[in-house]
Amino acid sequence: MTAQVTSLKYRNTTLHQDAQPAAALSNRYLAVRHASTALSEGLSAEDCALQSMPDASPIKWHLAHTSWFFETFVLEQAVPGYRHFHPQYRVLFNSYYVTVGERHPRAERGLVSRPGLDDILCYREHVDGAMQALLRDVDALSQAMQALIELGLNHEQQHQELMLTDLKHLFSRNPLQPAYREASARVTGASVPAIQWHDYAGGQHRIGHASDSFAFDNELPSHRVFLERYALGSRLVTNGEYRSFIEDGGYMRADLWLSDGWDAVQAQRWQAPLYWQQQSQNWQVFTLSGTEEINPAEPVCHVSYYESDAYARWAGARLPTEFEWEAAAASLPAEGNLVERGALRPLAVADRQADHPQQMFGDVWEWTSSSYAPYPGYRTAPGAVGEYNGKFMVNQYVLRGGSFATPQSHIRSSYRNFFPAPARWQFMGIRLARD
Ligand SMILES: [Fe+2]
Repeated sequence: MTAQVTSLKYRNTTLHQDAQPAAALSNRYLAVRHASTALSEGLSAEDCALQSMPDASPIKWHLAHTSWFFETFVLEQAVPGYRHFHPQYRVLFNSYYVTVGERHPRAERGLVSRPGLDDILCYREHVDGAMQALLRDVDALSQAMQALIELGLNHEQQHQELMLTDLKHLFSRNPLQPAYREASARVTGASVPAIQWHDYAGGQHRIGHASDSFAFDNELPSHRVFLERYALGSRLVTNGEYRSFIEDGGYMRADLWLSDGWDAVQAQRWQAPLYWQQQSQNWQVFTLSGTEEINPAEPVCHVSYYESDAYARWAGARLPTEFEWEAAAASLPAEGNLVERGALRPLAVADRQADHPQQMFGDVWEWTSSSYAPYPGYRTAPGAVGEYNGKFMVNQYVLRGGSFATPQSHIRSSYRNFFPAPARWQFMGIRLARD
């Protein structure tokens, strides 16, 4: 993404959920904050300081910026006389909130050697101490302030996924091809059943978030959409299938590509997904667990919208719209290969006889053919947090379903992720649809 990766999404100022017991919100705060630092365990200060490209941020920056969010949007407002950890951090770790004030340039986040990682961990402790004091009496907080805290936790979960995407890109640029961690789950089978088609009758469907639980504002309001009859693929497109596309000259056939996509293929000299490397007749791929042979049964990952669209055309299919995807996912449990499983990669499909599409949640974010646009009746919130989502609703496509790096408590069927069509470094893949 350009801006949106660090952008992430925001919801309404009104708290949609039932008032939480004080201990519940406090415990959730601690759990989410701990999950961020847990992701950085085992990394050196140097690992956490570097920035491999303008779209990716240093781990240290993610750890600081998520703290900045609580400091700026919660503590400054809710704690009279709040003492900032460092007065210059307000600018240094502001991502894109123009309303808040000056921002350090995005492309220069990797040049900030000081504050060091230890300083940033102290910053986190400072913010956590103030937040825990505040959360001792949740009932004294306004509904709007409780909503901002909930937003801050969901914001931090988004950055947890970005920590893994950005770290993977950083390590991929290191000639030593270091491994982040050994994966805790591995499916080594090399084959999966052919894609089956699940038919949906179409008609009127309710789209968007409709319950009292948390949602970002871009999932609102809930509204009706009419769908024609359609079918969804029973599983994600695999590495093996995508390799067949490559071997069939997929990257050399202009007729398969959107015009902008064909231009990107020429300009970027794309010949395969990001992180694929050809070794004589074989393809290797760089993963969070190091470099290895591609597993043809695993879902293909790190493809742009352009590549996903071209693959679908080659396969005689198309990408689903975000509404087709949501209508099919709404009745399914939001479970799958998510970050808690520790797989650190998309996994080959497990259930071969299911009566509904598999891998809808987790594994890889699924490109849809839907432009990222406001739902009917969408309004941005007043103030700085109104910048969270709405201003990025141009020149991007919606992705659905989460990835192996998404926290379980963070994903749902109405969740809308979004990236520009050329983006590849997020954990993004392909599900086919057809009329
Ligand atoms: Fe952010």
